[in-house]
Amino acid sequence: MAWSWLYRTLESPRVYNAVQRVLGAGGETLDGVYRRGFGESRGTVLDVGCGPVRDAPVPTGRLVGLDVNPQYIVRYASARDDASCTTLGVVASAAAVPFADMSFDECHTVAVLHHLDDELAGRAIAEMVRVLKPGGRLALFDMVRPERFRDGPLASILCALDRGEHVRTAARLERLVREHGPGDWKIESFRYAWPRLQGVLMILRKP
Ligand SMILES: C[S@@+](CC[C@H](N)C(=O)[O-])C[C@H]1O[C@@H](n2cnc3c(N)ncnc32)[C@H](O)[C@@H]1O
Repeated sequence: MAWSWLYRTLESPRVYNAVQRVLGAGGETLDGVYRRGFGESRGTVLDVGCGPVRDAPVPTGRLVGLDVNPQYIVRYASARDDASCTTLGVVASAAAVPFADMSFDECHTVAVLHHLDDELAGRAIAEMVRVLKPGGRLALFDMVRPERFRDGPLASILCALDRGEHVRTAARLERLVREHGPGDWKIESFRYAWPRLQGVLMILRKP
């Protein structure tokens, strides 16, 4: 595939972090969204598809990063613990989370679902619901593509070039999430960074 060399270099935590800094800069940054989505995290929190860095605010408690890329996990788990948070890492697939039912106070996933086809993404959502305690919080953030090219030409092009091959429209993502995680979702759509990328934040409290 034409872009496979570029996608391979992104497997390196250093390259990945540099690209994230460039694409995430300018405009409205994700900081505010992260604060709204993850600022209240408490207890034992699972970060699914965690990548190499802790982008979202760290919880008060214990943070467990899960990713298929061992290099990312090594980097993520070696982040310096602060007084309020201990970080651990596990190499595993989001579609088969290696923890018992009702183990976590919160599960969140940031910019991961567009890397998974519908079947895998559905299993990942169901897994997060399964390992969440009753009353626990599930927070999903993902980039989405504009419905039509003319609604956001640059964002459409960047979505088409993204390493994740399953960037969905907001409507399609919402349908998928509701199908595999039924409940009363709170949903917020926004645009961020200089290319005016579109994102959706979905939050569910497990009954
Ligand atoms: C765009 S990165 C997002 C990383 C991080 N959440 C962040 O916000 O910086 C997507 C991540 O999903 C991970 N990933 C892809 N497929 C996965 C799977 N099946 N299970 C777990 N993680 C996966 C990748 O290794 C990568 O770290």
